[in-house]
Amino acid sequence: MKGGARFFFPTAVRALGHDAIEQAAIAELNRNLGSLAGKDASKMSARAKEALSGQTVLGTTEEIEKSFPDVPVPNDLGPEDYWIWWNHEHQEKQLLVIAGDTSKGALYGAFELLRRPATAPYKALPMEGLRGSPAMPIRWTDEWDNIDGSIERGYAGRSIFFDAGHVRTDLVPVTEYARLLASIGINGCNLNNVNNASAFFTPEMLKEIARIADAMRPYGVRVSLSADIASPQKLGGLSTFDPLDPAVQKWWNDKVREIYALIPDFGGFTVKADSEGQPGPASYGRSPADAANTLAAALAPHGGVVLYRAFVYNHHLDWTDPKADRARAAYDIFHPLDGKFEPNVIIQTKEGPIDFQAREPVSPLFGGLTQTNQAMELQITQEYLGQQRHLVYIAPMWKEVLDFDMRVNGEPTPVKQIISGRTFHRQLGGMIGVACVGQNGWLGSPLALANLYAFGRLAWNPDLKPEDIAAEWTQQTISTDAAVVNTVVNMLMQSWPAYENYTGPLGLQTLTDITGSHYGPNVEASEHNGWGQWHKADHDGVGFDRTVATGTGYIGQYQPEVAKMYESATTTPDNLLLFFHHVPYTYKLHDGKTVIQYLYDSHYDGAERAAQFIADWNSLKGKLDPALYSDMLPRLEYQAAHAIVWRDAITQYFLKLSGIPDAKGRAGHYPDRLEAEDARLTSYKVIDVNPWEDASRGKAVSCVGQPSCSATFNYTGRLGTFDLAVQYFDLQSGAAKFALSIDGRSVDTWSADDHLPSSHPNGDNSTRHLVHHVALRPGDSIHLEGIPDAGDPAALDYIEILQH
Ligand code: GCU
Repeated sequence: MKGGARFFFPTAVRALGHDAIEQAAIAELNRNLGSLAGKDASKMSARAKEALSGQTVLGTTEEIEKSFPDVPVPNDLGPEDYWIWWNHEHQEKQLLVIAGDTSKGALYGAFELLRRPATAPYKALPMEGLRGSPAMPIRWTDEWDNIDGSIERGYAGRSIFFDAGHVRTDLVPVTEYARLLASIGINGCNLNNVNNASAFFTPEMLKEIARIADAMRPYGVRVSLSADIASPQKLGGLSTFDPLDPAVQKWWNDKVREIYALIPDFGGFTVKADSEGQPGPASYGRSPADAANTLAAALAPHGGVVLYRAFVYNHHLDWTDPKADRARAAYDIFHPLDGKFEPNVIIQTKEGPIDFQAREPVSPLFGGLTQTNQAMELQITQEYLGQQRHLVYIAPMWKEVLDFDMRVNGEPTPVKQIISGRTFHRQLGGMIGVACVGQNGWLGSPLALANLYAFGRLAWNPDLKPEDIAAEWTQQTISTDAAVVNTVVNMLMQSWPAYENYTGPLGLQTLTDITGSHYGPNVEASEHNGWGQWHKADHDGVGFDRTVATGTGYIGQYQPEVAKMYESATTTPDNLLLFFHHVPYTYKLHDGKTVIQYLYDSHYDGAERAAQFIADWNSLKGKLDPALYSDMLPRLEYQAAHAIVWRDAITQYFLKLSGIPDAKGRAGHYPDRLEAEDARLTSYKVIDVNPWEDASRGKAVSCVGQPSCSATFNYTGRLGTFDLAVQYFDLQSGAAKFALSIDGRSVDTWSADDHLPSSHPNGDNSTRHLVHHVALRPGDSIHLEGIPDAGDPAALDYIEILQH
């Protein structure tokens, strides 16, 4: 365990206590240390062999003191803190102690110890022992699982918890998930969707949910449930769900008692009310505080909490009213209630004022509740960030939010200190990550797991740096090889900026279909409707005036120093300019570039960066587990292609709207493309793609009501060998087939069998198939046959001849 030598632990491991958490910690140590001991001893250095002898003991501080009175156990550990200490003796006298004030702390200590061989193999333990303490008490994931086993905004298959109205029989994956959560310090899991929650509260279902709690308990993960405020009416048969009605209050008290009889360590309730169609106290003229406090009173005697979500807004806003602004809602509703919540209520606020967009400012509510517990909600599931089909490591965004200084009362007040309860001396606070894990590798894509890892690590210690967390994660899960670590960390660190660049820079948000898929480009989908995610782009300019002087006044919700910065376009950071201000396209950013040129450049830069990820990943071939290598590669290829769809959609949209050309001549000009609508068509019909920007020049061809269709292009370019990109629409249903031939020679066939969002050809499902090394001569005919299948009309946009 010395510095300079590789870090090994005594492999004789035992727990001093008998509880399930200590046993889980010991099992975890054995599972990992066992592999060290199993190493070929003849190849081990004498030092390593010595380091493995002696004993490792794990227990509570009380247990350690009893069995080892000479060990200098600290007497001020917090309930979840750990302490790892080595007696600096050698061989069989060597003693390694992993202690916690509770067994949960010891469990976190065991996981900390297990992080070290990969992340800090030559770092010695400090003489006085290594202490760890979570920054905030509430570190939960929220799962948005439905009772039928589907998952709202989940991108990794079906639920590990529920199926067909019941808790699943096999809960081994649930225990594994709890283990995963505990390894990064997460201590709570809210199991069900915030929408439509009442079905989970029947007596039968609660009994089944107790099995989930049992499966997670050995890892110190407490379960909680989203609660539907209307449950007393929906389930209890009452005529009302008015939170101030005594019968309603009694119903909640009884229900909570029933839950605790089944789940003694139940965590509490998460509430979405008066939001996006969910019932709430407003139906009775009651406030969120009335509703939250009724639930809190029921939970308090049992030690439970209420996470009341600040995500309350009117989704029928009047878009013609220039003062209407959804961003204002949380602060307008909750700030006046500051101080009115029971001590076991925590207001759970999304990190930005809108809804998990690629870039938002920090919610002003964090600075607006000084007498109320607060937690920050963020999304691990990548709803607006490419739905795990795009690599987006979100920790750098979360870190910006955590570090953002709200300047409450003109003092340094970073968000991380507010939500940890330190700033305003609150007992409770924390971070909630909406994870939506499923059966398919937890998050669907292997590199997406870096987000879950980073969430846990930041909730434990928000001072950690995203790049260090990325390195730790890579070292533990992929490889400790320096080239691998550097490359993967670089890819992760560049992924959010790249995504922001090709989907909506300058605070424009993610320009997607906000009433539907939340995935592909659809610039006008967010405009002219009641959902309030407007960018207000018109012929002359773009951006949302949220100033106090001339706009919606949203900026006035920030503390004066922050408000002053945002009120003026010149002091607003470029990356939020269009969130706060409406400016002409010719407005100059801080480096002198115009807004419109930045829109063009950033989209091209972002798409280029996405393409670079493929080369980065390929550079690691041979250094990676082959299964991981080949799992990730097509994902990165897909992302690079979809980044082009985004790039072209947004740039050609703004080119048309503004009428200002791209100084570099790229937007709207695609000289190497053969447009399907210009080809010689047999049975294919030309269609208008909706939205128009999702197809090259707005048009595509579609094969409807025919067994097969074809498009023939006359090649007039130079002689050479090229890669061909065929851009087609892979609709959610069916598996259309394509066959490419050149001058009668068959070159390639493939099938459109992905399950992308949307059943109409658009940017959700516009897909690129690359055909490599195709020899072409002027005069060749390029022939593409499309065979529709089950509602997938083999729609085709263009073929691009890629010039290298
Ligand atoms: C987003 C998301 C919804 C979700 C909501 C929420 O709007 O699209 O699926 O229910 O957030 O956080 O409640």
